[in-house]
Amino acid sequence: MDIINHDILIVGGGGAGLRAAIAISQMSPSLKTAVISKVYPMRSHTVAAEGGSAAVLNDDDTHDLHAYDTIKGSDYLADQDAVEVFVRDATNEVRQIERWGCPWNREEDGTIAARWFGGMSRKRTLHAADKTGFHLLHALFQTSLKFDTLKRYDEWHVCALLVDNGKVGGVLALNTRTGVFSILSAKAVILCTGGVGRMYAFTSNAGIKTADGAALTYRAGGPIKDMEFIQFHPSGLMRTGILITEASRGEGGYLFNKDGKRFLENYAPSKMELAPRDIVSRSIIEEILAGRGFKGTYGSYIHLDLRHLGEAKIMEKLPMVRELCLDFAGMDPVYDPIPIRPTMHYTMGGIHCDKDGKTPMPGLFSAGEAACVSIHGANRLGSNSLTELLVFGARAGRTAVEYVSTAKPVSADKLQSLAKDRMDFIQKRYMKAGNGKEKIGAILSELRKTMDEKVGIYRTEEPLKEAIQIIQKLKERFNKITLTQQSRVFNTELTAAMELDNMLEIAHVIAMCAQVRKESRGGHARKDYPTRNDEQFLHHSLTYQGKDGPRRETFPVTITKWQPEERKY
Ligand code: FUM
Repeated sequence: MDIINHDILIVGGGGAGLRAAIAISQMSPSLKTAVISKVYPMRSHTVAAEGGSAAVLNDDDTHDLHAYDTIKGSDYLADQDAVEVFVRDATNEVRQIERWGCPWNREEDGTIAARWFGGMSRKRTLHAADKTGFHLLHALFQTSLKFDTLKRYDEWHVCALLVDNGKVGGVLALNTRTGVFSILSAKAVILCTGGVGRMYAFTSNAGIKTADGAALTYRAGGPIKDMEFIQFHPSGLMRTGILITEASRGEGGYLFNKDGKRFLENYAPSKMELAPRDIVSRSIIEEILAGRGFKGTYGSYIHLDLRHLGEAKIMEKLPMVRELCLDFAGMDPVYDPIPIRPTMHYTMGGIHCDKDGKTPMPGLFSAGEAACVSIHGANRLGSNSLTELLVFGARAGRTAVEYVSTAKPVSADKLQSLAKDRMDFIQKRYMKAGNGKEKIGAILSELRKTMDEKVGIYRTEEPLKEAIQIIQKLKERFNKITLTQQSRVFNTELTAAMELDNMLEIAHVIAMCAQVRKESRGGHARKDYPTRNDEQFLHHSLTYQGKDGPRRETFPVTITKWQPEERKY
């Protein structure tokens, strides 16, 4: 098999991956660096981010305040040393990205504009209208193009990490267009592959977010962390789950139940619609369960009302919200309230790494949503994730440069033999598997239904156990899949099978960790254990692939100066 050699290989062409690539290229342009991505980089999910990126820029704000808001928002599961690094680096990163072309909105006096976001005690969410992800990704992408030495593999699918005695030496990858498998060797691999959203049916996530990075790490023997913490964004557009940005509420939008009441006054009276997402999402579900939602063809919902903002403000600050409503719901928020309900949005957990992106596996690094540093703990505050991918993308890139200055590559012979084993596995598992009875679409639908119904916003023991059993059965069924397309060229059925395999593996971890964590914390809300239990559960969950399924260990949370307290808004 072909071996293409690199010093550093970045998997994922979204914000974190491109930020890492730029950091590496600036620091050490002579290194052989490449970005491999299953889609063209401008189609990465970062492009769909809307509301903004949080950072301290104004005199009324401090890094400590941003850190405190983030830690309180995390329900005290964030590692506080990492959060302190994050808020400090954030200020430099948002200035840097402007120099690279990100057109932040401005105040009248020319200073960078900031808006309110949930759980933040200051206006610190910088934005480019409601297309922040698009502009931020564009700025990163066009900057990355300046580095001639930076190679790209667009529309390549990474099938496995190649690991020799615990040390990562590259990946086995499929060029989707040609159908050719190659070894991409590297002394360091940085996984920036995004989250797991597509294992849920109702999600704001792009179709490409299929738990790839977590599954690659897990299968290679590495730990993944805090996977039970899944974020539901309060405002998913009915029918599709498309994100209606929190900036709608930051700019003054209200949430109403069917009785015309701003019900957040019963749940978070001091923050109202700008409470953190876990609280707002649960409040919406409570209203619906109490019969105070609206009933529609696609289920119950509540109203997000922007009408009082007026057309001019909506067009200036929230033009994409209007466009999305017109295109996907056939209604205009200038004249009508938007029908919404919570949508799966973000994966707080991910590949276990430290604040420099380093995982416990030599040669493996991670950043962005794929990673779990952890700065979000049990619940991320909105607008901390665009900043996260800048801060930790850059840090992971720099750490990888240091690492490769002394690291030795895995030998070509060893890589060939690792890749051969993996190719045999792929051939057996995906291309020739089973007796033709099972279809990937049917398994995927059942997985999504199970995750929505049993591992959703509220969780309880029995449904979680049922979810684990169903997922185990789905894994067995997966062993009997047959692909209708046997060609390797642009075989999207093959890549879909590999993605489903990844999601099944990681769904198992999510359900198991959710069942074991018998407390409620942030985005993990147990009906049967409704309170936080610091005595027993103030720890991270670390999960490894065991012989008979996930094996969970615990890992300490780093507390610096903010002691856990009751979380009230
Ligand atoms: O609502 C939003 O614009 C989402 C932002 C985020 O997830 O950080």
